[in-house]
Amino acid sequence: HPFRQARFLTSANRIDQLPADRGAEVAFAGRSNAGKSSALNAICDQQTLARTSKTPGRTQLLNVFPVGDEAHRLIDLPGYGYAKVPEAMRLHWRGVIDRYLRERESLKGLVLVMDSRHPLKDFDRDMLAFGAASGRPCHCLLTKSDKLSRSEGARTLAAVRKTLAQEFPNAGAQLFSSHAKTGLDEARGVVGRWLGL
Ligand code: GTP
Ligand code: MG
Repeated sequence: HPFRQARFLTSANRIDQLPADRGAEVAFAGRSNAGKSSALNAICDQQTLARTSKTPGRTQLLNVFPVGDEAHRLIDLPGYGYAKVPEAMRLHWRGVIDRYLRERESLKGLVLVMDSRHPLKDFDRDMLAFGAASGRPCHCLLTKSDKLSRSEGARTLAAVRKTLAQEFPNAGAQLFSSHAKTGLDEARGVVGRWLGL
């Protein structure tokens, strides 16, 4: 799969530090500590590509990972809703992420990473609504599924898909685990299609 070629390019603290807004980009969004960076690493089959941590708030910049050439990129976003960072920093990131989502022409789709034990929180719904309003597809990774039994996982997936079908028909969902490496090929398929790989 092409994601093995992913590499780190740059960390941006502001929109104008990102690469030129050309080509195709897919962003990994989700609440703080949901497992975004871990999911990106698992998809790329590279344990140390994006920095992960037990401590919420690890990812603090827009991290850019080209896949092959720089025209195809994955973006690891900071988590939304982490309470312990200073207010000024939280506002800064809210502004940067909101502006990124609104203005980025090369953003072709959103991977919404949710802890499968706590799916569809307010932030997740905001992100899905944004995707719908901007005409961008969303794909939900119900991650840490290794923490659920098979039947709990199946029940959670069915419930999330039902809600999406009713409220956000441009969004799909799957079970995923970075640790157990489940759902990788399905996720690669979706992201690869969006990037045109
Ligand atoms: P921020 O950048 O801080 O918003 O976090 P993040 O969403 O990037 O989460 P990250 O990937 O850093 O993972 C957060 C914690 O969840 C770490 O302790 C990971 O080891 C753990 N984690 C991530 N994915 C999984 C998974 O599939 N299963 C389990 N059991 N733990 C996971
Ligand atoms: Mg992270």
